[in-house]
Amino acid sequence: MVPFFIFLLFSLQTLVLVNTQKVECNSNDLTGLKAFVNGFDSPIEGWVFNDTSSSCCNWVGIKCEAGRIVEIDLSKKRLSGNLSDALFRFEHLMVLNLSYNYIQGPLPNVIFHFGKLEVLDLSSNEIRDVLPNSIDLPKLDVLDLSANSFSGVIPSGLCVNSSRVRVVRLAVNYFNGSVPKFENCRLLEQLYVASNYLYGDIPKSLFGLPRLGELALQENRFTGFEGIGNSTSGLVRLNVSSNRLTGKIPDWFDRFPNLSYFIAHSNNLSGGVPLSLLNSRSVSSVNLRNNSLNGLIGFNCSSMVNLTSLDLGTNNFSGNIPGNLASCGKLKALNLARNKLVGQIPESFKNFESLSYLSLSNGSFNNLSMSLKILQHCPNLSVLVLTMNFHTEQLPSDDELQFKSLKALVIANCRLTGSIPSWLNGLTQLQLLDLSWNDLTGTIPAYLGNLKSLFYLDLSNNSLSGEIPKSLTQLPSLISRDISLEEPSLDFPFFKRKRNLTGRGQALRYNQIMGFPPSIDLSSNLLTGPIWSEFGNLKKLHVLDLKHNNLSGTIPSALSGMRSIETLDMSYNNLMGSVPTSFVTLPFLSKFSVAYNNLMGMVPSRGQLATFSNSSFEGNPDLCWGGLTKVTIDTCQKNQDLLPPPTASDKDEDFSILRMVVIIGFGTGFLVTVISLLVIPGIMGASKTDKFE
Ligand SMILES: *[C@@H]1O[C@H](CO)[C@@H](O)[C@H](O)[C@H]1NC(C)=O
Ligand SMILES: *[C@@H]1O[C@H](CO)[C@@H](O)[C@H](O)[C@H]1NC(C)=O
Ligand SMILES: *[C@@H]1O[C@H](CO)[C@@H](O)[C@H](O)[C@H]1NC(C)=O
Ligand SMILES: *[C@@H]1O[C@H](CO)[C@@H](O)[C@H](O)[C@H]1NC(C)=O
Ligand SMILES: *[C@@H]1O[C@H](CO)[C@@H](O)[C@H](O)[C@H]1NC(C)=O
Ligand SMILES: *[C@@H]1O[C@H](CO)[C@@H](O)[C@H](O)[C@H]1NC(C)=O
Ligand SMILES: *[C@@H]1O[C@H](CO)[C@@H](O)[C@H](O)[C@H]1NC(C)=O
Ligand SMILES: *[C@@H]1O[C@H](CO)[C@@H](O)[C@H](O)[C@H]1NC(C)=O
Ligand SMILES: *[C@@H]1O[C@H](CO)[C@@H](O)[C@H](O)[C@H]1NC(C)=O
Ligand SMILES: *[C@@H]1O[C@H](CO)[C@@H](O)[C@H](O)[C@H]1NC(C)=O
Ligand SMILES: *[C@@H]1O[C@H](CO)[C@@H](O)[C@H](O)[C@H]1NC(C)=O
Ligand SMILES: *[C@@H]1O[C@H](CO)[C@@H](O)[C@H](O)[C@H]1NC(C)=O
Repeated sequence: MVPFFIFLLFSLQTLVLVNTQKVECNSNDLTGLKAFVNGFDSPIEGWVFNDTSSSCCNWVGIKCEAGRIVEIDLSKKRLSGNLSDALFRFEHLMVLNLSYNYIQGPLPNVIFHFGKLEVLDLSSNEIRDVLPNSIDLPKLDVLDLSANSFSGVIPSGLCVNSSRVRVVRLAVNYFNGSVPKFENCRLLEQLYVASNYLYGDIPKSLFGLPRLGELALQENRFTGFEGIGNSTSGLVRLNVSSNRLTGKIPDWFDRFPNLSYFIAHSNNLSGGVPLSLLNSRSVSSVNLRNNSLNGLIGFNCSSMVNLTSLDLGTNNFSGNIPGNLASCGKLKALNLARNKLVGQIPESFKNFESLSYLSLSNGSFNNLSMSLKILQHCPNLSVLVLTMNFHTEQLPSDDELQFKSLKALVIANCRLTGSIPSWLNGLTQLQLLDLSWNDLTGTIPAYLGNLKSLFYLDLSNNSLSGEIPKSLTQLPSLISRDISLEEPSLDFPFFKRKRNLTGRGQALRYNQIMGFPPSIDLSSNLLTGPIWSEFGNLKKLHVLDLKHNNLSGTIPSALSGMRSIETLDMSYNNLMGSVPTSFVTLPFLSKFSVAYNNLMGMVPSRGQLATFSNSSFEGNPDLCWGGLTKVTIDTCQKNQDLLPPPTASDKDEDFSILRMVVIIGFGTGFLVTVISLLVIPGIMGASKTDKFE
């Protein structure tokens, strides 16, 4: 309400300005604009130069004060072309914002000599250039050249004359060399130089800049820290992740009394966590994942009053999980996966009220039954990942277990015995369940179909038997997926490793549960009975994997109701009959297999079905597909004639595939984009083992 009001006021004010201000253009400014436009490939809408008395002050993107241009904001205008030298006659210009365009040319040197310029935002263009050694803009406040193709070194004299600069953003370019000391940047608050090719030590002078609050150095090639000198730094965010830092983490956190984020994942830091960090009162988010750190974990929660997120995954920490972590009163997200930790979940975790996300995968923990009994007392636990622990223990069937807030439960790759327990029935919020790669026996319980938010179910690679419960074809969030399902906030990503039997495979990274493709994976079990035609209800399902079971009967043509399906694998079963013609209407089908069944007849060679290779169909002695000779076509035709007549839904498959694509494209466009960015590459390379960490 309030922002809208402000917006309204703002618009009114603009309106008033436009109506009253009949100021003519200063002729210097007008000449400047003409030259400026000349550099671009197309004219700027609304800028008309043929009228000598034109009031350029009313043109789109221009603001004047006292008849002189003070602001040019042509951000997001799809401009392409060069910035021309002739443009810069704007003695009064304070803001030049050309961000989010396709501007290519080099930067005219004069741009760095505008006495009044306060904001220079050329981010997200395609400018290739090197910067001059000094930038002479005495009033400069914000300099944003990020996401271009700048190369060479970052000018060391940046602040010599531009001493008032507050924000410098140079991220996502090709800058190399070391980071300058920036000693003259006394008012600098933000320095973003992430995603470049900077190397060497991180200079200590940066920590002496009195106002610096945010320092983003991630994704470069820094190898170490120069130290901190004798200063105390007011930094609030320090991100040095994805560099080549080696050696110990400096024990200097007592000199950062305001530090809230320390993000140093994906380096090669070794040794332990320094004492001053273990006792930092200010720090709220510590991310040391994917380094070579070792020793015991000894965070001191009575000092660390602000800690909310701690990611120590993928290191060499050893010993037990320290019980005192539960006394970090604000700690919500804890990742200890992939370390050398052993033992049990401490009893004290019963009182871990703030805990919302816990990953312990790939450790050597034991006593799953006790672990679950303890963790069920955490009232806010919403994501629990325990993969690769508790080797060969039994999945507890204790009816009293209750996890009211749990949204994701992952206990994969533990070789657990037992059956799928009935306490899962009480996980009413569950969205994601992965119990794959265990030795679970018995049937798949029907109540799983009642979990109204469940959209990702992986029970693959167990010894489950019996029929597929029909209730799975009624899963509400696979029928009409409510995209607004409340998302647990993850402070760090989920990893799901797609491993095959020979290789290590590839780790897929998901920043939120919602990023997972809606899936049902029941592959590699002992399931019998039919594939229900009601699976066609699941309009939002992306992956249905039923391979390596003993399923029988025919493939229902109604499965083509799964309009979002991308992966459909029914290979290695005992299926009979033909491949339904209706499948040619599935617009997103990109991985498909019916290999090694008893199918017969002709595979329709239209739609996506025409795009699959032999391996999708082989192992069916009476099935024919693609590039056949006349003789084999005749044989296939005969086989086809032996088949029962097509069912009703086989007949109405003839409506336009194109129309289908368009309709579906609109309906699920967002999802499909997300999925194709995050997921499809992984699925395509997918293979046998799936495990979370
Ligand atoms: C200026 O150009 C526009 C179109 O470019 C045209 O419609 C208009 O008549 C011209 N005005 C003058 C005064 O030439
Ligand atoms: C420039 O314009 C973009 C898009 O309108 C805006 O997001 C950005 O904040 C502006 N830059 C500055 C420094 O104000
Ligand atoms: C833009 O700048 C590039 C690089 O200097 C140059 O090759 C090209 O000719 C220029 N294009 C125009 C339209 O001036
Ligand atoms: C700083 O500004 C002064 C006065 O305008 C000028 O003489 C000098 O060359 C500038 N220095 C740098 C490094 O740009
Ligand atoms: C740094 O970049 C410049 C300009 O692209 C290049 O000439 C130089 O070789 C690079 N230096 C290093 C050490 O990579
Ligand atoms: C800290 O360093 C500065 C400059 O390097 C120096 O002037 C100052 O005396 C030093 N302060 C202390 C307490 O060592
Ligand atoms: C830390 O923040 C407080 C409050 O914003 C400020 O007064 C103090 O100067 C900062 N400390 C340092 C070392 O900058
Ligand atoms: C730190 O950098 C990483 C990239 O390595 C980025 O994903 C993350 O958002 C950054 N975190 C903060 C708090 O700046
Ligand atoms: C772990 O860090 C290494 C560099 O030390 C990097 O190459 C790798 O991509 C990182 N892995 C993950 C999963 O972040
Ligand atoms: C990381 O550092 C350790 C020594 O601390 C070294 O043995 C190891 O090879 C390094 N790993 C990489 C990927 O550089
Ligand atoms: C803890 O965090 C809050 C909010 O982010 C902040 O205001 C407070 O100063 C922090 N406490 C310490 C001791 O830094
Ligand atoms: C298995 O993984 C390895 C290593 O990632 C890869 O080279 C190989 O092609 C994969 N095999 C299959 C069948 O996907």
